[in-house]
Amino acid sequence: MDYFVISGGNRLRGSLSVSGSKNASLPIMAAAILTEGETVLRNVPDLADIQHMMKLLTLLGVNVSRDADGTMRLRVVDEQNCHAEYELVRKMRASVCVMGPLLAKRHTAQVSMPGGCAIGDRPIDLHVQGLRTLGAEVELTSGDVLLRAKRLKSAEVFMGGPFGSTVLGTANVLMAAVLADGSSIIESAACEPEVIDLADYLIACGARITGHGTPRIVVEGVKTLHGCDWTVIPDRIEAGTLMVASAITNGEIALKNCRLDHLMAAIDRFRAIGIVVERDADGIVVSSARRLEPTIITTQPYPGFPTDLQAQFMTLLTMADGNSVITEKIFPDRFLHVAELTRMGARLRKEGPTVIIEGVKRLVGAPVMASDLRASAALVLAGLIAKGQTRISRVYHLDRGYQRFDEKLNSVGADIKRLVE
Ligand code: EPU
Repeated sequence: MDYFVISGGNRLRGSLSVSGSKNASLPIMAAAILTEGETVLRNVPDLADIQHMMKLLTLLGVNVSRDADGTMRLRVVDEQNCHAEYELVRKMRASVCVMGPLLAKRHTAQVSMPGGCAIGDRPIDLHVQGLRTLGAEVELTSGDVLLRAKRLKSAEVFMGGPFGSTVLGTANVLMAAVLADGSSIIESAACEPEVIDLADYLIACGARITGHGTPRIVVEGVKTLHGCDWTVIPDRIEAGTLMVASAITNGEIALKNCRLDHLMAAIDRFRAIGIVVERDADGIVVSSARRLEPTIITTQPYPGFPTDLQAQFMTLLTMADGNSVITEKIFPDRFLHVAELTRMGARLRKEGPTVIIEGVKRLVGAPVMASDLRASAALVLAGLIAKGQTRISRVYHLDRGYQRFDEKLNSVGADIKRLVE
């Protein structure tokens, strides 16, 4: 198993290119199940989660390959298998987004229930309810959800739940509705850029969708979809994490292949604590040269502050002058990083879904353990500024969602060694 040894204290300076979005790529790859002909997907990141989805799609009869430059080719060659088994789904929750496409195209989807996950319960009731509303018969069998429908019918589907809308749930229902008979409305739809990218991809394949990016998506069902050539959006969470890396080290990093409009909530908080974020010809430049102000952050569905940047901002706010408050409204238990950051000298007090962060003068290196993707990123960021060495074990969590993160950070001045246990 790989681990990192980070020697902290270096200022990061230079230019980096943001990779393609993991969370946009995964549902678009699944959507290829709906199409006839070839999909060429560009800017697909090289990540463990992407390889995982490739494996699942291969088992589901999709010919899929990825070149070193990030170009992926997908073509359905066999529609017999409709079963996403536990062994694969338990390793990557996003596997559930084959459910809508299998149901719509092959009339049957058998998908293992993903079970718990490091950041909380993460049920899929809203996915299933949405697909049922479109006419699927639903059964539970040995831990799998089995959905069947000869022909999906149009419907009004409500996707809101106790924590707001659901991103992959909206994706599943959208992917099913594009081949349903007639006109469907998805109310309380997720507005995340990854849902917009999926809808735009489907439109490029011949789907008829309007309203994506708003809470009301309207879908006119079509009979068939063809392939297309699509470039995935840049990864806003990787961009936000690299912005924190620049800010926390008092550095200056220019980010290319970066969508400022997808990062407004994070930029608002960066500016509130005294970090300079400027637009330049290729993207954005993030710099910081002074002690930070404390602030208050509440995670929310897009366009609010993303839960996927909560852990990284917690590390950043350990360096503020005073007390900050972070409240997690999407995954109230997503705080595995709190205990590990505390081992490095952070002063954190957790009260329910809220953490109070008392700024400290410095963090100190320590052996810590990565637990989930974004918590791992928060530990790497802490290691960049900690006095001495930080050893982070289980970095496979990080590799699920950040493409060669250590190499990227080293190229702008970090000192991260990847070693094998
Ligand atoms: N929820 C339900 N019922 C459902 C589905 C969701 O109650 O049927 C709840 C969840 O438990 C949570 C909230 O609704 O409290 C929102 O969850 P959502 O379904 O939107 O999450 P997701 O679609 O499973 C995606 C990303 C996550 C990201 C969330 C929120 C992918 C592959 N995953 O998950 O990304 O945190 O949206 O923005 O797109 C990550 O990349 O590290 C990551 C976890």
